[in-house]
Amino acid sequence: MKRRKRIAILTGGGDCPGINAVIRAVAKKAINEKDWEVIGIEDGYHGVVNNRHRILKYDDVSGILTLGGTILGTSKIANPYRYAVKRGDRLEFQDLSRVAIQNIKKLEITCLVCIGGDGTLGIAYRLFKDGIPVIGVPKTIDNDLKGTDITFGFDSALSIATEGIDRIHTTAESHHRIMIVELMGHRAGWVALYSGVAGGGDIILIPEIPYDFNIIAEKLKERNRKGKRFSIVVVAEGAKPKGGDVVIQRIVRESSDPIRLGGIGFILGEQIEKVIGLETRTVIMGHLLRGGSPTPFDRILATRLGTKAVDMIEDKKFGYMVGVKGNTLVNVSLKEVAKGIKTVPLNHPMIKAARALGTCFGD
Ligand code: F6P
Repeated sequence: MKRRKRIAILTGGGDCPGINAVIRAVAKKAINEKDWEVIGIEDGYHGVVNNRHRILKYDDVSGILTLGGTILGTSKIANPYRYAVKRGDRLEFQDLSRVAIQNIKKLEITCLVCIGGDGTLGIAYRLFKDGIPVIGVPKTIDNDLKGTDITFGFDSALSIATEGIDRIHTTAESHHRIMIVELMGHRAGWVALYSGVAGGGDIILIPEIPYDFNIIAEKLKERNRKGKRFSIVVVAEGAKPKGGDVVIQRIVRESSDPIRLGGIGFILGEQIEKVIGLETRTVIMGHLLRGGSPTPFDRILATRLGTKAVDMIEDKKFGYMVGVKGNTLVNVSLKEVAKGIKTVPLNHPMIKAARALGTCFGD
């Protein structure tokens, strides 16, 4: 008797709203329409190295559309090509890709669907070059993946960030304070730019436009002179002063991308109080942007991406990611995706629009 086709799903990197919606879409379509078997790999690439996985039945993926996080677990540090192993206090990195590849081959799958950002999909591309049929699905709140206009998770993060800015607005106004809202986004300013515009930030600082503190100070003083007794500063965690560098919050030694950003908001706050003498508070929204239920936009996008991934498996489009171009889903080579990150272009229409309204970018 012919064995049923089998696929596996892996979720890697930072979680975000909408991952479960993708898992559900891939698995339901695979089971319902194709009669394939679906395996869920546990905790990202840890699962392929340590052979941890489970069968996903229809009921396992039913009722998870609105659920935040990932039912499979994830990891921001597991990399089969540079796997961190602790030896007492020492950390060693081993190339366990052969083990991972053997483990994947033992599963006898037609395809490994990798749901992730640049790190996860970069590893997926290496696995593909090493003979594993993979398909990528673009996930990250940062929206910084090459080859796609948008990643799922971004819209949800944007909506949480905007709500945060709105709430900060009322308290800033009541207390006549400068309020700084620091937002995740890694080395790209998408989240800060979009939510800064949506939340009416007076100053928006993004990594792509290094800032001059004097310009920020002048803008704050000018608002004060004009009778605006409060100001909202939206700052991306990766923002940096001209000629200066990002603020590092911690180094995760086990990770292939060990730098975790954070804290620029506090530094700016102190500087503002010291130099201009205006009372200032800083709020770091941090991981709040990654939690909770996906927005309707992300649920729809996740469902489209997941079902398209199944079509791509049928068409043997291995080594590709489902990308979004305008309103169309396209196949993008993982080679293209693995080339680096997508930052905000300096001539982005959103920057132009915000500048036209008087928003200061610190330059
Ligand atoms: O890539 C998603 C992201 O949330 C970034 O915006 C942020 O810089 C980083 O992950 C935080 O990583 P961690 O979850 O390890 O603190």
